[in-house]
Amino acid sequence: KKIVILISGRGSNMQAIVEAGIPGAEIAAVISNRPDAAGLIWANERGIPTLALDHKAYASRDEFDAVLADKIEGMQPDLLVLAGYMRILTPVFVNRFAGRMLNIHPSLLPAYPGLHTHQRAIEDGLKIAGCTVHFVTAELDHGPVVAQAAVPVLDEDSADTLAARVLKQEHQLYPAAVRAFISGDFALVAGRVRYARPLD
Ligand code: GRF
Repeated sequence: KKIVILISGRGSNMQAIVEAGIPGAEIAAVISNRPDAAGLIWANERGIPTLALDHKAYASRDEFDAVLADKIEGMQPDLLVLAGYMRILTPVFVNRFAGRMLNIHPSLLPAYPGLHTHQRAIEDGLKIAGCTVHFVTAELDHGPVVAQAAVPVLDEDSADTLAARVLKQEHQLYPAAVRAFISGDFALVAGRVRYARPLD
């Protein structure tokens, strides 16, 4: 099977997935909308095909997403993985990859969709934070939940220390979820996540 990973920056989740290894799948490409993404260099050094598609070179979001979707579809991926891909996707794009596109978000959704999740959790005085892997739907950070991991929020935490604790969990959770999807352990059925086998 084939996996395409979309990044925008350092790509540490992409690295975790590559390093974990996904039995039965190859990483067909790592694509970034930012040509200077550090993750592209990392992937390239490991012989993974990379592609930089600069969104600034396109007149509109629709146009960029159409080109991006065509490129991806040409690679015939079984799974599209968003790993720190920091651009909102158009509904047209999302619908083209419905049921085969995952994202990881650094909060326990549906709490804190969007940006600055760790700062908001601290300001609200929460004692537990975490991360969520979900199928991507047209509404940002609202797709059906695949898996979650929780971490404590400590009294002395800053957004950065909490982010680091959550990120460690992301690096465990995302490869496990990708592996399970490729193995057919779960799928999106009528808008809900159905497990044939529990996540390891
Ligand atoms: C992660 O916290 C991810 O959940 C969020 O942005 C961060 C990306 O980190 N969407 P990386 O690029 O995977 O290192």
